[in-house]
Amino acid sequence: MASQTLEQLGVSAPDALEELFTRLTGALEQEAARLTASGGADALEALRVRWLGRKQGIARAITDGWLKGAPPEMKRIIGQRLNALRTTAERVLAEKQTPAATPEAGSDASAGGPGRTIEGIDVTYPGWRRQTGARHPLRRAFDEMIEIFLSIGYSIEQGPEIESTYYNFEALNIPEDHPSRDDQDTFYIDPKTLLRTHTSPVQIRTMESQSPPVRIIVPGRVYRRDSPDATHSPMFHQVEGLAVDTNITFADLKGTLDHFMKEFFGPQVRTRFRPSFFPFTEPSAEVDISCLFCQGGQQGCRVCKGSGWIELMGCGMVDPAVFAHVEYDTSHYSGFAFGMGVERLAMLKYGVPDIQLFYQGDIRFLRQFL
Ligand code: PHE
Repeated sequence: MASQTLEQLGVSAPDALEELFTRLTGALEQEAARLTASGGADALEALRVRWLGRKQGIARAITDGWLKGAPPEMKRIIGQRLNALRTTAERVLAEKQTPAATPEAGSDASAGGPGRTIEGIDVTYPGWRRQTGARHPLRRAFDEMIEIFLSIGYSIEQGPEIESTYYNFEALNIPEDHPSRDDQDTFYIDPKTLLRTHTSPVQIRTMESQSPPVRIIVPGRVYRRDSPDATHSPMFHQVEGLAVDTNITFADLKGTLDHFMKEFFGPQVRTRFRPSFFPFTEPSAEVDISCLFCQGGQQGCRVCKGSGWIELMGCGMVDPAVFAHVEYDTSHYSGFAFGMGVERLAMLKYGVPDIQLFYQGDIRFLRQFL
């Protein structure tokens, strides 16, 4: 009946049209029901061609024959009911498309996937490829640093990222008016609570709960109110170090960090200590390493700006004012401390040009560390 025009069928009123579609749908469902009994992929394909076939299917015939010249009201009904009929046909076909109806598909047909076709499984189709993960480059840098310090007798300590002003500042001899207390640099939660701006508060927490000798490193997250750019991020990572014992000298500090740099960057690397200032160490120093990229200062190296040295971290001998806060006896004990930025060291070692790459989770970046 679909090959006849509506006129030939004597259908001119919406009611009669609706009735016609209801009969068509009924016929489709009956046909599908009979299919279960006979089964087989050929019968299924025949049903598909009869109803949905692109050239001579019933749906096609309705589109071609009934829509043309029909008044708008009728067109609307034809459009809606034809869509519904198509959906029914597709559903019926999908339901019958089971391993039972297509024996050659094998039992894997229900597994789905791109290899599934109306005929069954295309065994030549490539399988699913799962991407393997990798350690994040920061995790890798942490692990390499930790390994070096564990091998020379340090243990790992941790502390809270939400810290009190006492541990982050006071106990570290950072006075009220010191610039690093400025709102510009610190995320405050309330006047006495903040996100730690460095890992140094864990020095205090450790010394409060342990007596010397102390040899610890503190890997962890720190926060500063910096705008993100290629070298800044409001959250980054540090590794803090602290050694307290009898007879600890600046030479021990130099030896330890020189050893660390050679292990981390390679035996060709040299270190240099420049006088500096931190409220919690005295004397204090900045540690530079010889430029990894131009091996010592040929003109025009972008990384060391032609100086031959790269500034890497802060360190110094623990200030007696700090020992006083934790009641360590300064006549018996001395110590050194250092703090380094993990991103900075990782960028230099792995050649990462932009700190933001560490935080974006871009698989193209991360896959380079497999
Ligand atoms: N806490 C200092 C910083 O974040 C680094 C440091 C640690 C310096 C220990 C000296 C001793 O910049």
